[in-house]
Amino acid sequence: MKYEEVLERAREKMSPVCKVCSVCDGLACGHTMPGPGSKPPGNGANDNYRAWRRIRLNMDTITSVKEIDTSLELFGRTLSLPVLSGPVGSIRRQFHPEDDVSDYNEACLAAAEACNTLHAFGTGLERRVWENAIAGSLAHENRGIPVYNPDSMDQIRAWMDLYENIEKPCESSLVVDSAGLPHYRMMNGAGGPKSVEDIRSLKEYCGTGMMIKGVMNAKAALKALDAGADAIIVSNHGGRVLSDTPATAEVLPEIAEAVHGRMKILVDGGIRSGVDVFKALALGADACLICRPVLISFYGGEKDGVITYLNKIKAELEDTMLMCGAGSLAEIRRDMVRIPEGSLV
Ligand SMILES: Cc1cc2nc3c(=O)[nH]c(=O)nc-3n(C[C@H](O)[C@H](O)[C@H](O)COP(=O)(O)O)c2cc1C
Repeated sequence: MKYEEVLERAREKMSPVCKVCSVCDGLACGHTMPGPGSKPPGNGANDNYRAWRRIRLNMDTITSVKEIDTSLELFGRTLSLPVLSGPVGSIRRQFHPEDDVSDYNEACLAAAEACNTLHAFGTGLERRVWENAIAGSLAHENRGIPVYNPDSMDQIRAWMDLYENIEKPCESSLVVDSAGLPHYRMMNGAGGPKSVEDIRSLKEYCGTGMMIKGVMNAKAALKALDAGADAIIVSNHGGRVLSDTPATAEVLPEIAEAVHGRMKILVDGGIRSGVDVFKALALGADACLICRPVLISFYGGEKDGVITYLNKIKAELEDTMLMCGAGSLAEIRRDMVRIPEGSLV
């Protein structure tokens, strides 16, 4: 399946809500929420995208690099590429009459197995979706990372309980950045922000490694570390929870410096190609998540659409590594990219 074909098919199903732009830059969808956009005034997704554009590559082909290896060790596994598909909690007939996020999760889990990577799936709003994703993860070599939203502590533990029969679940993840979304705030104060103690107690309760999604500065990263987190995801939820945060590319270097190798760092937000993945790794990330383009690829070709997209990203990453002199991910260094002075957006 060609990527152009994937986009064409996605357009038939997703428009007019998502325009399926040839590059998903967050401009045409603006502040459409529900939908794929950002919180009003709608600049968040585009800010993330533009920041990666401004970072430049230091091309150098006077090297002895011949073979390119994009594999990495993450959460006790050897993966073939440092890109995971991101969590989508709910789509509820937003784009197409038959929308079901369970189908998205199933396609992403199958694609993750085919491409030897992982898929993060959200608790969303329905228990059925969560149970389907857990079953799907089991059917696909346990390649699903459960992502808990900032519900009440009791509700998060209840989601975790549904996982109790799984022998060795993948690393878990707690999303902290959606704390301000109306449905968590309406829980009489029980949902929303989580303290260092809350995170520590949830990690102990679930008994797996814990990632914190939605870290946007060094101070928050150090709090996650203090809480015992094994990894963080540098993310502003794709601009969907607060306008005018920095772009994730802007904060990644200072977070990587503060963490100093003590936790794994993942990043998402506007990463649209293997070139962007290379830049993220050069700035200190271990791996990336991509969400909206994966959702588009799912609509454009289900499992095969997602595989087409992941393979495209891998090929672009290989090309960038060759052109910048990195034979392996460990060889991608900070001096292979150039960051202009001042704000990136
Ligand atoms: C329709 C939609 C639903 C999302 N639902 C969730 C969710 O339930 N949990 C979560 O942690 N992130 C959710 N996200 C955020 C993404 O996982 C990701 O952090 C964000 O979109 C940035 O990545 P991107 O620019 O590649 O889309 C959602 C994003 C979109 C577009």
